[in-house]
Amino acid sequence: MPTPELNLIANTRLDGLAQPVRVIAVAGGKGGVGKTTVSVNLAMALARHGRRVVLLDGDLGLANADVFLGLSPRYTLAHVLSGERTLDEVLIEAPQGFQVIPAASGAADLAQMGAAQHLGLVRAFNTLAARLDVLLVDTAAGLNHSVLQFSQAAQHVIIVICDEPASLTDAYALVKVLSRNHGVSRFQLLANRTRMAGTGAELFERFERVTARFLDVVLDFAGEIPDDEYLHRAVRGQRAVLEEYPQSPAALAFKKLAARADTWPVPPGPRGNIEFFVERLVRRPAARLEAVR
Ligand SMILES: Nc1ncnc2c1ncn2[C@@H]1O[C@H](COP(=O)(O)OP(=O)(O)OP(=O)(O)O)[C@@H](O)[C@H]1O
Ligand SMILES: [Mg+2]
Repeated sequence: MPTPELNLIANTRLDGLAQPVRVIAVAGGKGGVGKTTVSVNLAMALARHGRRVVLLDGDLGLANADVFLGLSPRYTLAHVLSGERTLDEVLIEAPQGFQVIPAASGAADLAQMGAAQHLGLVRAFNTLAARLDVLLVDTAAGLNHSVLQFSQAAQHVIIVICDEPASLTDAYALVKVLSRNHGVSRFQLLANRTRMAGTGAELFERFERVTARFLDVVLDFAGEIPDDEYLHRAVRGQRAVLEEYPQSPAALAFKKLAARADTWPVPPGPRGNIEFFVERLVRRPAARLEAVR
């Protein structure tokens, strides 16, 4: 016998089928490769491109998105999960033209959610979906549970790599676990901190050669972001490079990346739907979601 909450979940899902939202997770495996830098600047570049963007900060670390943007959040996604605040109360308007959902204590909470909280989250994102084109998720370093959950839930996973052995091995480990255990088979590889034009493509090819031998995945080259002192300066000033130095090499590269990301196809049908994201986010082995369906 379905509980009232489960009925509500089913109805909520039907209500929200209208609007496809592009959901992009930014991951990388290794710490410090530029995931937050990419998330923040891609968010701004997409906003400039005319898209309504929300950046969900999925990293609890210290150098997270609100710090990069000079924001002081009062609430986080955890308050939404606990029912203390609505998603609208938690959202912060960044001066760069998009909104931010500050970090919550992540996946541990998501995995423990009961049906009522699950419903709350689906509803919260449903309301958001009507005024949203792109949901970007900045993830933490490493292979922890939240990184895997956010990545499996997104439609597109950007893997940020740079030309360092540790970055490549960590990115490989992440791609491997996502493909083998979480059903993610396609990745957008972004080369960061390149020192010469064209070296990003070489790095991509090197990475692809290894994955092609051992993993069953499709990799796309998303482009390269040059190592740029202007970007570094912008980060120190808690600004996006796109607003401080719009003509800098990094800013131009982010514009290019945004234009490209904007053409990545949003899967038709339920996969392009925001509550699909929430469902995959909270998915844990079978039983409960079978009941939801
Ligand atoms: N293209 C670039 N040019 C110059 N500096 C860069 C570039 N990309 C990143 N950085 C610098 O590298 C540092 C780390 O970047 P960032 O915090 O974005 O990495 P991260 O992957 O999010 O790290 P963490 O794993 O700790 O979350 C920042 O100080 C940033 O200024
Ligand atoms: Mg970060």
